[in-house]
Amino acid sequence: MQALVYDPDQPAGLRLAEVVEPAPRPDQALVEVRAISLNFGELAYRTGHARPGEVHGWDAAGVVAAAAEDGSGPPPGTPVVTFGWNGAWARRRAVSTADMAELPVALDPGAAAALPVAGVTALRAVRRLGSVLGRRVLITGASGGVGRFAVQLAARAGADVVASVGSPARGEGLDRLGATAIVIGPRNVTGSVHGVLDNVGGQQLADAFALLEPGGVALSIGKASGRATTIDFEAERHRPGDRRIEPFVIGSGLAEDLGYLVRLLDRGELDSQIGWRGPWERAPEAAEALLSRRVAGKAVLDVPA
Ligand SMILES: NC(=O)c1ccc[n+]([C@@H]2O[C@H](COP(=O)([O-])OP(=O)(O)OC[C@H]3O[C@@H](n4cnc5c(N)ncnc54)[C@H](OP(=O)(O)O)[C@@H]3O)[C@@H](O)[C@H]2O)c1
Repeated sequence: MQALVYDPDQPAGLRLAEVVEPAPRPDQALVEVRAISLNFGELAYRTGHARPGEVHGWDAAGVVAAAAEDGSGPPPGTPVVTFGWNGAWARRRAVSTADMAELPVALDPGAAAALPVAGVTALRAVRRLGSVLGRRVLITGASGGVGRFAVQLAARAGADVVASVGSPARGEGLDRLGATAIVIGPRNVTGSVHGVLDNVGGQQLADAFALLEPGGVALSIGKASGRATTIDFEAERHRPGDRRIEPFVIGSGLAEDLGYLVRLLDRGELDSQIGWRGPWERAPEAAEALLSRRVAGKAVLDVPA
């Protein structure tokens, strides 16, 4: 079958190639892929980790071709959205039924494919802040995939959302998603915040941490800047009150949270914010656009039937 494989000598390290069919484990269904989405992490961190010829990809939506042998998950013919740590960028993927959710037949598979990593990360990060009802939450990298879901979900949870972006153009549309303020970097935030969801790292995380009110928490979701963060905790000791900073990871068993996001999407209460869409032959172009901050939200590729 055809798949996008890692090839360090190709543009964006991607090439369409013939690969062997996936062999599902008993807890995995075989899914005919219709659309995939790209994530910053799977593109940015391949060097030194990926082997040439490997099929990458975390997010895919499609139709169940063969149900899992252990009886879990939906029957053949069911549209699904799926997550796994590899194998999504292929015509067929073997994927655990614990990481898939059924889709309404009429739902666009491209919009669904945008959900798993970015949407579930945003959902679980907002949830980890605790109640944000009537509280101020700062989201850095709000223009990106995780960021645009986080803005919508934090606003939905009742937060007063401050969206931090790299430029006014990158902030376009975030007000319509629920942001009450759009700033160019955390340094331009006035006043304090109760929570921080940080996708950028480096100086932005340090600046965001300095904005926390007593009892507040900053979650480090990602490091899109590529830069490490230095925080002067000696200076922090002189600020009254406690505040926390914690690393965040998406975790496992995405099915239930994916199902919730699918329902929101289906009811028109969540938007996948697809900023780039095209056929999977154009994957290198999409990957380059994403890594160079030219995609507002998610990059989605359609896989022909
Ligand atoms: N911990 C987890 O489980 C988890 C899960 C998902 C993602 N992540 C991480 O979270 C981060 C965001 O993921 P994503 O999928 O939302 O990525 P994305 O769509 O590429 O968005 C990243 C955003 O970061 C901002 N940014 C600032 N400096 C940047 C730089 N030097 N290069 C690229 N972007 C820069 C960009 O906003 P502006 O252009 O407006 O500045 C961009 O929109 C990534 O680091 C990713 O690896 C972690």
